[in-house]
This record gives sequence, C-alpha cells and structure tokens, in this order.
Amino acid sequence: MIRHFLADDDLTPDEQREVLALAAEMKADPFAHQPYAGPRTVAILTDKPTLRTQLSFQAGVAELGGNPMLVDGKLAGIGVRETIPDSARVLGRHVAAIVWRTGAQERIVEMAEYAGVPVVNALTDDYHPCQILADWQTVTEHKGRLAGVRFAYVGDGANNMANSYLIGGAVAGMHTRIGAPEGYHPDPAIVARAEAIAATTGGSILVTDSPTEAVDGVDVVCTDTWISMGREAENEARLTAFTAYQVNDQLLAGADANAIVMHCLPAYRGKEITHEVLEGPRSVVFDEAENRRHAQKAILTFLDRQARSA
Ligand code: NVA
Repeated sequence: MIRHFLADDDLTPDEQREVLALAAEMKADPFAHQPYAGPRTVAILTDKPTLRTQLSFQAGVAELGGNPMLVDGKLAGIGVRETIPDSARVLGRHVAAIVWRTGAQERIVEMAEYAGVPVVNALTDDYHPCQILADWQTVTEHKGRLAGVRFAYVGDGANNMANSYLIGGAVAGMHTRIGAPEGYHPDPAIVARAEAIAATTGGSILVTDSPTEAVDGVDVVCTDTWISMGREAENEARLTAFTAYQVNDQLLAGADANAIVMHCLPAYRGKEITHEVLEGPRSVVFDEAENRRHAQKAILTFLDRQARSA
C-alpha cells in the first residue's frame, strides 16, 4: 500500500520519531541519502502563494538526487480543467512523488487515492504537517526532547497550524495548549482526535480563551498569522478579535524563563507578534524555516522507502 502524508497523524509516534531522526541525520550530512537518484522527478504543485515551501522542497529534492518540478496550480487547473482523479493518474505516470499546496483537504485526499505514488501535504486549509515536522525538529534541537514539552499556541485556534500543532503535538507526547478567542477555538472533532492520541503518548491538550493561561510556564510560545491565505475578506473582524492575543514581551513574561518563540512565517510584525520578540534572543523562526528542507527530505525518503517495499 502506498503511504501518504496528508495530516500529522499519518505517522505513528514511532514513525514520527524515525522521520525526525532522519531529518537530523540529513541536516548533518545533506547528501548522504539519494533516494531519487536517476534523477527521478518530484512534482511540487502550488495553488496558493509560497516562498518557504517552494524553496525548501525544490532544494531538498535536488539534495536527494532528484529532479524537482515546480508546477503552477493555476496553469495546471487541477479539479478545474480536469477532474482530480484524472490529474492524479497522469502525475502518477511521470513522477516518484507529488507535493501539493492547495485549499480543501478533500482535494489532496482524492489526489492520494488515485495517484499511485506518495502524496505530501504542503499546506491545506486544514493542516500543515510538514511545518510541524520542521518545528518538532527545531524544538528537539533547542529543548533536547519532544515528549513532555509544554507548548502554547496563541492566536487563531481554528486554522491549519493550530490543527496540526494539536495533532502533531499529541503524536509527539507534548502538552499542547491553545489560547484563542471564542469563535476561533479549534474544531471539537480535532480536539477529540488529539486527546485520543495524547492518551496513548502521555501528552495532553488544553484549549482556553486566556492567552496568559495558555503560556503560563511553557517551554515554547508559538503563533501564526491572524489572517490565513483565503481569509483576507475577514481582515477587520479578525484584527479586532485577536488584539489581546499578540505575542509580545508582556505575554512572554509568563512563560518559562528559557522559553523559545516560534512562528512558521510569514510574520506580520505589530499584529500577531511584535518586531522585538520576532527579532529577539528567544526567537527560533529561521531555524524553523531551515528545518523545513531537512524534515521534508526525511518524510519524502520515508514514504519512498515504504513505497518501494510495498
Ligand atoms: N495559517 C497560514 C500558514 C502560512 C504558512 C496560512 O494558511 O496562510
């Protein structure tokens, strides 16, 4: 059976550890693994804006000995010019893996169903699991472990990053807290799924309206844009709803004295995070950005090994 990475719990806790160990190995020696030697091609499709995703996948696939092929989703018109199953089967005849940034999760699920090659979620409206792998690599580098780490995410609790932190944190056995205003809490189904996983890994989940309760004593404070791609029309309502949830020096004072600050970028200074905190000594945002490449190389390699042994 072909394995895919569409959401954070597509990896078991053991597999997440294996992928993160491989990511660390790849960071230490970028050219040690060449699963795409040939070169075999990996299609990188984007229906939404991207800088980090495009860069890190293109550079990463090249380091794996492969041919990274960037495809503009608008030109390809997947699900518009032709059905997703038709595009999926055409892609699957040409490439070793498909990386896709798109909107609705159902689109990538359907792609995976028909592609016949591994499909990797490079951000959908619901999840951003590659960012979470990069972030867990970063947390491991700075905190020496994942299980038991206290992690607070403050801001839009109903977006793709919050969902992935909840699920991916539970897989890692972390204590995940979401501080978000009413109306922007995570979907109860996502919370229940994360709680069920956390019950098996020793992790825990807390959702609160209070940003100070969320960050109290934590090892990691994290945020994301208040206005995700596709939500631009809600700009005004969101800026008002999230004002009290800014990551600034005052909020950070409640976290552990050695807490690090994370943000997947792009960041909007003066909105979800202050310039001072983003540029300050606790910020590890550019480590996260770099680790995208290493973590994505690791998940691609893991999925390719699975596909070849299938
Ligand atoms: N929540 C953000 C993440 C950007 C990497 C968005 O979807 O726009």
